[in-house]
Amino acid sequence: PAERTLILLKPDCVQRRLMGQVISRLEDKGLNLIAMKMLKVTSALAKEHYAEHVQKPFFPALEKFITASPIVAIVVEGLEAIKVVRDMLGATSGLKAAAGTIRGDYSSSRQMNLVHASDGPEASAREIGLYFKADELHAYVPTL
Ligand code: CMP
Repeated sequence: PAERTLILLKPDCVQRRLMGQVISRLEDKGLNLIAMKMLKVTSALAKEHYAEHVQKPFFPALEKFITASPIVAIVVEGLEAIKVVRDMLGATSGLKAAAGTIRGDYSSSRQMNLVHASDGPEASAREIGLYFKADELHAYVPTL
């Protein structure tokens, strides 16, 4: 069934001018982008988004990184989109991610791993709600 997943192009992706490369890969794969916006993540949003990591030792560094400069939030829709996108990203650490994946090809960092994607259906619903209102999601069936 068609799924939706939340993708963030993190500050390193924006600053390194890799947004187009990542978006092209999503489009080439056949996923539909149904929502997109640039924004700065606030400390409050960082704590909500990364609620499961707030107590971890790396959280202060993660918060500093994710709030440092603008990100782009995207909702993509497609068959099994959650797993498809996570497979395209590769392992969390750019050092471990396989060649051919987005992180494997462009990141050599555990923290600055360019892109976030929801890791399951509950996370996807929750995370989409953090970044978008219902009327900002523009599902469509390609006809052209
Ligand atoms: P993401 O998939 O967005 O989810 C949690 C983020 O925390 C992860 O990508 C990395 O950016 C960061 N992260 C996860 N583990 C570590 C770690 N051990 N050290 C530093 N940053 C981490």
